[in-house]
Amino acid sequence: MIKPDATSKGYTGAILDQMIKAGFTVKAMKWTKLTTEQAGLFYDIHRERPFFGELVEFMSSGPIVAAILEKDNAVEDFRKLIGATNPAQAEEGTIRKNFAASIGENAVHGSDSNENAVIEGDFFFSKLERF
Ligand code: CMP
Repeated sequence: MIKPDATSKGYTGAILDQMIKAGFTVKAMKWTKLTTEQAGLFYDIHRERPFFGELVEFMSSGPIVAAILEKDNAVEDFRKLIGATNPAQAEEGTIRKNFAASIGENAVHGSDSNENAVIEGDFFFSKLERF
């Protein structure tokens, strides 16, 4: 997912370009905006965290790009490509180092396991939206 901070700053194209140049293939993609309820469901595992309210407000504050990306070893390679959750700790050249402002507004989200990638893909896309 490309988050509202990045879409609002006009970074969508540059971020997608970096993902595609890193070898990821687009299987599904949409420009959409989450309601606070949808953002809460997407991040349900963080419901008890102190930052949950802030996270839900932010993630529903503007448009996002949701995508299913394919690659061998995709989860691990994507997490390397985007960098640490906190952009201050992200390595040079990573998407969060290049485009993110803070731990809350960190430009992109990547699934943390194959299992969650399936759950998160199903959250946004029907079978008819995947090619
Ligand atoms: P993401 O990879 O989308 O997964 C959960 C998100 O919660 C994370 O990126 C951050 O944007 C957000 N998050 C994690 N820790 C904090 C924090 N301490 N304060 C605010 N937001 C956070």
